[in-house]
Amino acid sequence: MRAVDIIQRKRDGFELDTEEIKFFISDYVAGKIPDYQVSAWAMAVFFRGMTARETGALTEAMLHSGKRISRGGAEARGIYIDKHSTGGVGDKTSLILAPLIAALGEQRWLSLSKPPAPVYVPMMSGRALGITGGTLDKLESIAGYSTALSEEAIFEGLEKNGYIMCGQTADIAPADRLLYSLRDVTATVESIPLITASILSKKAAEGAQFLVMDVKYGSGAFMKKQADAEALAKSLVDTGEVLGLKVSAILNSMDEPLGRAVGNWLEVEECLDFLENYKTAGTSSCIEPDLQKVTLDLAARMAVLAGLAADDAEGRELCEKCLETGAPFKKFLTNVALQGGNPDDMLARRQNKWRSPYKAELKAERAGQIVRIDAGKVGHASVALGVGRNRKEDSVCPTAGIIFHKKSGSSVQAGDTIMEVYGKDEACLQIALPELRDAIEYKAE
Ligand code: URA
Repeated sequence: MRAVDIIQRKRDGFELDTEEIKFFISDYVAGKIPDYQVSAWAMAVFFRGMTARETGALTEAMLHSGKRISRGGAEARGIYIDKHSTGGVGDKTSLILAPLIAALGEQRWLSLSKPPAPVYVPMMSGRALGITGGTLDKLESIAGYSTALSEEAIFEGLEKNGYIMCGQTADIAPADRLLYSLRDVTATVESIPLITASILSKKAAEGAQFLVMDVKYGSGAFMKKQADAEALAKSLVDTGEVLGLKVSAILNSMDEPLGRAVGNWLEVEECLDFLENYKTAGTSSCIEPDLQKVTLDLAARMAVLAGLAADDAEGRELCEKCLETGAPFKKFLTNVALQGGNPDDMLARRQNKWRSPYKAELKAERAGQIVRIDAGKVGHASVALGVGRNRKEDSVCPTAGIIFHKKSGSSVQAGDTIMEVYGKDEACLQIALPELRDAIEYKAE
């Protein structure tokens, strides 16, 4: 078999055999096929697509390129559930969902006469790339917090606290790590089969049995159109079935940043406030309704998949009650301590409003109503501020970001503050501010 023939067959619109896909992926990981040939193949896949069978074969080949975490001993009894988002701006729900589902699993385990198996949330996440924020970067803004966990530490964390948050280890789906960085610089990220194989190969390798997918569409997402997000959701569900991974997908708009903050530490603060101050009756002032809705929709579906609730409505009710007990907040603090951070230090930083010293306020230029704050443009500006990275090697600034005082639907008077903006330095503020101003659409009231 020759790589060039496989590239040519895909370029000309033929369906690749499973053997061809296996050969291509294993020789790429072994360093026998160079990046330039894989780039050409990825572009051919981008334009020609893949059948469901090819997507399944690609996902399996990428999964078997590395190690699969096995659930041994007592843990094998448990239900392993995870959630993954296709990425967005201000998308911080993972930080709330993992402790929430772990706490709900524990409460149901203790309260039911015939409880389901213990529920574990082994959440394996990624870093910011492009305009998409990264869960690992957010968590690492907590001083001392480590996301590089050994297999032993993963099981210890799950056993002690029901959840862990970590990054992909070197031996989990190495084909994805290589391919993802190549796709990022060859304009081949937005391909349904490539995204499907990338996400599911990692999730199957981490040992999850159930996965809730938050599939985003809109200006701040990979999929700009809802129809494409629907096709991606279907591909994820169908391919999950091939792997024995039960996937349930929820579609969410990413036209406006989610919640009140964009930025690593700023988003941790928002999650702490959500977990600590949740009230079922009405929304407390520190919880944005859009974040509340998306989080609870995903949490309810996770509860159903994990066997903790009969349907989404019951799942939502149970999750809200669980949040009110404060148990998920305590789990978050325990997780911080287990993964090397200091909860008291974290809470003190929140109290003292830890912020970058390079600050500006973006004010309304005229009276009216805000009809849109474009997530794509905010995402772009946030990378300039130092929230995200342009290249994999770039470092991020923990305290850079944006706090929204107004969101779409808000009425403003000229001079009202719409956003507080924090940058890694003065120069980047000057780059980001015009972009942020341009992201706001007004209409006269
Ligand atoms: N997230 C992933 O892990 N991979 C993709 O290709 C896109 C989003």
